[in-house]
Amino acid sequence: MNVPNHVAIILDGNGRWARKKRMPRGYGHMVGCDNLEKICYTARDLGIKYLTVYAFSTENWKRSREEVDGLMNLFRRYLKRCIKSSRENEMCVRVIGETSVFDDDIQESIRTLEDYSKDYRKLYFQIALNYGGRDEILRAVSKLSADVRDGKQSADAITSDTFEAYLDTAGIPDPDLMIRTSGEQRLSNFLLWQLSYSEFYFTDVLWPDFNKEELVKAIRQYNNRDRRFGAVKGDPSCSQQD
Ligand code: FPP
Repeated sequence: MNVPNHVAIILDGNGRWARKKRMPRGYGHMVGCDNLEKICYTARDLGIKYLTVYAFSTENWKRSREEVDGLMNLFRRYLKRCIKSSRENEMCVRVIGETSVFDDDIQESIRTLEDYSKDYRKLYFQIALNYGGRDEILRAVSKLSADVRDGKQSADAITSDTFEAYLDTAGIPDPDLMIRTSGEQRLSNFLLWQLSYSEFYFTDVLWPDFNKEELVKAIRQYNNRDRRFGAVKGDPSCSQQD
């Protein structure tokens, strides 16, 4: 099996999973959180090098106060617990998104986790929190404009590489495979720049049920796709992606 270098996942369906069990939505998020921990071990075991998950979008603040508060408490606990799994997985953790809006203790936990795990190299794990692709691009444009204004960048010499260095994902290769659980077939503002050439895999499985078997199924389907780079299929001299 040819394992993709970078897998990105939109974690979706916690609420429906809980409803099916006649449980509150928060219970679905809690089990979804446990599942995220398991998937990190699975990704490491399979040899996936980069894993990026969409855990909380810039839109998710519109959910009920009760649900948002519950999610914040879940993140609080998870970020602390993640120290242990980062050590066990030798996993370097980075949080992407606009994190300055979170409560101070959450920001502090993010810094502690990133700092603790920064030298691990087995798996690079990105958690998108208060993340939106458009927001990320706008923040990047704003930082780049400031550098042009200050003479640190030349406006005529901006390339894709220059721009990527301003994104939250700077230094991380683009995802090869993007998975969305729970039957929805939308990007929902996830990694808009980075997913330009990625393969997409949609499954009806709800996030809390998405296990190793389902991940392997997604990878096998990815393996069966024609990954075409350039106009002529299989021609190694073609490097431009289509
Ligand atoms: C989508 O399910 C899930 C979320 C908005 C939150 C994702 C959070 C977790 C999986 C918790 C673990 C993550 C971390 C980083 C601790 P949904 O509520 O949209 O489900 P629904 O579409 O069925 O209602």
